[in-house]
Amino acid sequence: MSSLLRAAVVGDPVAHSLSPRLFGLWAKARGRELAYEPLKVTAAAFSETLSYARADGPWLGWNVTAPHKERAAQLADECDPSVDQPGAANVLLFVDGRVLAHNTDVQGFLDSLAAAGAPSFGIRAAVLGAGGAAAAAVAALRRAGAAEVAVYNRGAERAQALSRRFGVSAGTLSDAAAELSAFDLIVNATSAGFAETSPLRAGTAFRPDSWAVDLGYRPKETPFLAQARAGGARTLGGLGMLVRQAALTWRLFFGETLPEDAVAAALADLEAVP
Ligand code: ATR
Repeated sequence: MSSLLRAAVVGDPVAHSLSPRLFGLWAKARGRELAYEPLKVTAAAFSETLSYARADGPWLGWNVTAPHKERAAQLADECDPSVDQPGAANVLLFVDGRVLAHNTDVQGFLDSLAAAGAPSFGIRAAVLGAGGAAAAAVAALRRAGAAEVAVYNRGAERAQALSRRFGVSAGTLSDAAAELSAFDLIVNATSAGFAETSPLRAGTAFRPDSWAVDLGYRPKETPFLAQARAGGARTLGGLGMLVRQAALTWRLFFGETLPEDAVAAALADLEAVP
């Protein structure tokens, strides 16, 4: 008997997510019976929806996206150590009526940097933003052995909170624009891209040998990356991280490490999506 396994990406909004396409591709190529759907759940409904899923669900697992990653970590019955540093989970596994939380964003981010040839060890890095995505980027850069990490945010209070939590320096986005040339790697972890803007003011100078990395992937060249490229920096978009955190999620779902060619094929497919 073939058993159809169910999984979902849960967020709000979620219609734009490329995860159903990605998991569909791998399931087809690898002969897995997997139904993977986008599930729109508001912040107010997340806890109750998770309770139903835990009790009745035919679920293998969920990918969790904004705005639920912190709540997912808090509501899970058990957290893998990968959740500790970012304080957020992007994967929930449903096992025997229990919910197990994992974080594959942090390692996925580092894997995508490594695959692109972008540095992380011993570097000076700036993270723009102070939400969950920024926390994951800071946790990743610390884990990778960055020599210095600085957080810059529009709102000073959230930057201070992240700075205290990780023991890194903090500033505002105008500070970032003035200090940018000090950094080898600048990560845009704000959601400014949704508003089709860069978090840095027009005319901000990038150091030509630096790397600019955006965690967002819509459009493929975000306003931040366009600005960085115009300034001569090397750029990396968020599709690589999306695919690599998903590959690590696949391993949690099925216990199978995807071969590098399956990861590369998925990335090529998503890069061709208009
Ligand atoms: P996520 O889980 O994706 O990190 P979040 O917790 O809502 O989402 O955080 C969004 C981040 O993007 C915040 O750092 C936010 O800045 P504020 O703390 O000042 O609100 C930042 N952000 C959102 N829109 C922005 C914009 N237009 N310009 C600059 N920063 C922006």
